[in-house]
Amino acid sequence: MKRKNREKIIAPSLLSSDFSCLKEAVEWIERSEAQWVHWDVMDGHFVPNITFGMPVIKALRKYSAKPFDVHLMIEKPENYIDAFVEAGADLISVHWEACKHLHRCVQMIKWSGAKASVAINPATPVDFLQDILPEIDMVLVMSVNPGFGGQKFIPQSIKKVEKLRQMIDAQHLDVLIEVDGGVNDKTAPLLFNAGADVLVAGSYIFGSENRDEALNKLL
Ligand code: DX5
Ligand code: ZN
Repeated sequence: MKRKNREKIIAPSLLSSDFSCLKEAVEWIERSEAQWVHWDVMDGHFVPNITFGMPVIKALRKYSAKPFDVHLMIEKPENYIDAFVEAGADLISVHWEACKHLHRCVQMIKWSGAKASVAINPATPVDFLQDILPEIDMVLVMSVNPGFGGQKFIPQSIKKVEKLRQMIDAQHLDVLIEVDGGVNDKTAPLLFNAGADVLVAGSYIFGSENRDEALNKLL
């Protein structure tokens, strides 16, 4: 998961796949050039939508050897860290806005053996991450308001990525930047140029006629 020579990582989001064929979608990611599998967990409280939880992730773990990148859009994520790691999460993103005790939550993720990431909503400034940066493996910058796939990219996110990259490099840290929401062939190059390492793509990949072709355009 380390940032090697600015490797470009794509994490297809299963949120936009056909839920009646999740296994097929996971198997496609496994065969594809995509490096990670992105899981959007929503609880109907932190975000106005509900998706899936640990049992679904656990059931599909055996169909992929690629890292499971689990994005928790839930309240009180600290209560579920161990269960998600047991289900197969390799990397867990918790929202800055959902954690009263963010530092403790990050430590819990690390103690459980997973990589720790903090996600920020579009209205949350990157400056709020200054003190937690040395503790984490990744920052997830939301470039849409979390809750749904297929939304319009918020252009301001590019400036946030640039600023965050400067903050990380100024401290000589090895922290990845992931961007999630509205990623397509137009926004992807702008985000990679701004300093992003990992791009999540849902509707752009799963809504296309040819997923491999869409993925290759992003890479
Ligand atoms: C949104 C999710 C995203 C979503 C992105 O709350 O966190 O991962 O799947 O979907 P697209 O790529 O369609 O914007
Ligand atoms: Zn996500």
